[in-house]
Amino acid sequence: QAPAPVSPTGRDTGAPPDARAQDGAYLTTAQGVRLYDTAHSLKAGARGPVLLQDHHLREKIMHFDHERIPERVVHARGTGAHGVFQSYGNAAPVTRAAFLAEGAETRVFVRFSTVQGSRGSADTVRDTRGFAVKFYTEEGNFDLVGNNIPVFFIQDAIKFPDVVHAVKPEPVREIPQAQSAHDTFWDFVSIHTEAQHHTMWLMSGRGIPHTYRTMEGFGVNTFRLVAHDGATTLVKFFWKPRLGTHSLVWEEAQLIAGADPDFHRRDLYDAIEAGALPQWELGIQTFPDTEDQMFHGIDLLDPTKFVPEELAPVQPVGLLTLTGTPTNFFAEVEQVAFHPGHLVPGIDVSNDPLLQGRLFSYLDTQLTRLGGPNFPQIPVNRPHVPVNDMLRDGFHQDAVHVGNASHYKPNSIDGGCPFTIGADGGGYVEVPEPVAASVKERRAPESFDDHFSQARMFWLSMTPLEQEQIVQAYTFELGKCYEQAVKERQLLALANIDPELCRLVAQGLGLPAPEATIPLADDVVVSPSLSMIGKAWPT
Ligand code: HEM
Repeated sequence: QAPAPVSPTGRDTGAPPDARAQDGAYLTTAQGVRLYDTAHSLKAGARGPVLLQDHHLREKIMHFDHERIPERVVHARGTGAHGVFQSYGNAAPVTRAAFLAEGAETRVFVRFSTVQGSRGSADTVRDTRGFAVKFYTEEGNFDLVGNNIPVFFIQDAIKFPDVVHAVKPEPVREIPQAQSAHDTFWDFVSIHTEAQHHTMWLMSGRGIPHTYRTMEGFGVNTFRLVAHDGATTLVKFFWKPRLGTHSLVWEEAQLIAGADPDFHRRDLYDAIEAGALPQWELGIQTFPDTEDQMFHGIDLLDPTKFVPEELAPVQPVGLLTLTGTPTNFFAEVEQVAFHPGHLVPGIDVSNDPLLQGRLFSYLDTQLTRLGGPNFPQIPVNRPHVPVNDMLRDGFHQDAVHVGNASHYKPNSIDGGCPFTIGADGGGYVEVPEPVAASVKERRAPESFDDHFSQARMFWLSMTPLEQEQIVQAYTFELGKCYEQAVKERQLLALANIDPELCRLVAQGLGLPAPEATIPLADDVVVSPSLSMIGKAWPT
């Protein structure tokens, strides 16, 4: 195999080699015919008109006309890097995943992103950030598709189109909601009050991270680990930056968005090229896999809830180091396809209804975004292990499959091909789970009903400086709403979180502060680990 391409400073980027790209000393057509001129079209005389028979002109313009693919429907704006993950081995008792075994080293590709903006939007806007990691493990690809905020807007994936419509540019003026005219965003989060917890994180410094290098990551949804003996444990994943967690302040974020809209991607690229390799520790919180899947009264299947580190410490299980910048942004950052259902033996999904919807969505969107069903063959998506599937033909099929009966299994003709091999041979086996006695119920469990106490926990866990910034953020963003009723409904939600927070924001907006309509949670755990002040991960 040819060596992997290297970054401008000569580091190995880990990008799969592709011998067909830009091979040979001469410029050619796509058919490999050498060109003698690519700057003049074929004309009748020197002054034209241009001749239709100019194949090079038609091929060159045709290809250019089709250079764009659809941007991601969410997380369109992002950047990425190659790296390596080194396992400490201490997760081995709870998971049989080979990449978490002692001494295992695994190549990764990481993509950081904003959620709401288009591909050309600014980096330092107030938004959630994506933190997606593809591990090319010896058992196939595992994707940890997380965010920089540990809770999500909604509890059920069926609302995802609604929340995304509410934050994307509104249909009349095409103005993005999360950044300027804010009515639909605040309308959504004040009606769907489960979004209040995520919104509170967004109004804090977490919504304007300083750099990608200083950002925590969270797998958000609860997953299930499976040990060698079949024992299961519920788990939440964390990324802890070695440099600590830091944010911008709002004035910086706005100035930088104007002066250098590429600030975050430039920072990541420059840091890696300068040899200041960014590092994160992968951490896990583990919980007993009980029948009710609750922990200290927190429903582990509710993705708007978070388990404070004071109740379940985060245990570091490995180290991620980003070692190489992309060789080609389109080939790697734009074409990478993450999916929370890309799992390896030892890791399984839970019944979190948000996660369950995600399992459908990513594959579905990539079918359109990447032009057909063969995107796993794109170099950045290829597993670093042999692939022997029964997927055939289709648009952009790159593989030349051999044999007359390798495309169905089992068969009695192509005897050399392995059948499925079961768990003993390293096969992926799902964990069987009991289901409720009644099926087909369109409702959430009662344990999903509390929408305010964890937002209150976050607010009470902040230092005075962080609280001041949160008040300013709510006041600034709500101040952009045209609809009075939306502002008033959001103030009511704040009253149900904390009366003082509500009073300060109402004062800033010049509106009366409403009374809470539900009793305030008086037993919340104040969690100093949620504050970013002085927060550095011990190494
Ligand atoms: C993309 C995270 C919920 C649908 C992404 C990306 C991340 C992410 C990091 C960007 C991947 C990349 O860099 O290419 C999350 C997290 C969620 C969540 C942490 C909540 C726990 C959802 C839900 C849906 C969804 C509920 C739909 C039901 C999508 C889609 C994309 C995407 C369609 C674009 C994928 C592509 O074009 O390749 N998500 N997401 N996400 N997400 Fe989610």
